[in-house]
Amino acid sequence: MEILSGILVAKQIKKEIKAEVESLINQGFKRPHLAAILVGADGASMTYVNAKEKDCEEVGFDSTVLRFAATITEEELLIEVEKINNNTEIDGLIVQLPLPKHINEKKVTETISWKKDVDGFHPYNVGLMFKGLPCYLPATPFGIIKLLEYYKIETSGKNCVVIGRSDIVGKPMAALMLGKNCTVTICHSKTIDINSFTQKADIVIAAVGIPNYVKAEMIKEGAVVIDVGITRVDDDSEKGYKLIGDVDFNSAATKASFITPVPGGVGPMTRVGLLLNTLMAIKNK
Ligand code: GUN
Repeated sequence: MEILSGILVAKQIKKEIKAEVESLINQGFKRPHLAAILVGADGASMTYVNAKEKDCEEVGFDSTVLRFAATITEEELLIEVEKINNNTEIDGLIVQLPLPKHINEKKVTETISWKKDVDGFHPYNVGLMFKGLPCYLPATPFGIIKLLEYYKIETSGKNCVVIGRSDIVGKPMAALMLGKNCTVTICHSKTIDINSFTQKADIVIAAVGIPNYVKAEMIKEGAVVIDVGITRVDDDSEKGYKLIGDVDFNSAATKASFITPVPGGVGPMTRVGLLLNTLMAIKNK
């Protein structure tokens, strides 16, 4: 069994991005600039946005975080998005999700200019992705593809089961694995007998949000197991919580050929996916 280390691969790719930024600037390009909108004070969202800011600094991008109270109206937020759409200094924009209940996420996603939509959530980018055309790919599936490529995991002709059908991970992940010539099945909460699918899978990608859901008996010997789960569970560590994946690591590791840990697997690759998209934003100009 081999660990697929997102930490190691992310470090390598960030080094490459940093070098490319300097080279682009020497060719007359502007420094990539990512803007993030954070609404409210959700602990996980604040952590993610801070991490994205730190990543930008590490690779030589400019970054701006716009913070708004959870009481901001939908109309006010849409105006802020439009301001960034029209700001030529800013190349990429993400609005950290989830948003407060009174704000329609779909409306916000569709208001971000597709040219600056480095999350790849705009319907136009989703359409390009499904057609296999160049576009911003949602960061988590994009990062997972990079991780599989780094470790030279064979995908062509393989059975891939994606557990979870979210717009952010499950659906785009399935589209990208299809693009990598896998035979893809998406399982979800209404699937009858999920084990009968996962037991045939060469690659299992768990994005279901249920801690320790995937166990050894669900997978076949030699399967590649990718864990997208990051459920926060309170503990008495310094941080006050720990992250639990969707895969019961110790159980699944007894059968897997390759497996991602949590933390240190998919998480760092998601962050790299966003950086790669922001770099692409500048190259497209
Ligand atoms: N919330 C959870 N994942 C994401 C993501 O990839 N992008 C944004 N904007 N919000 C998220």
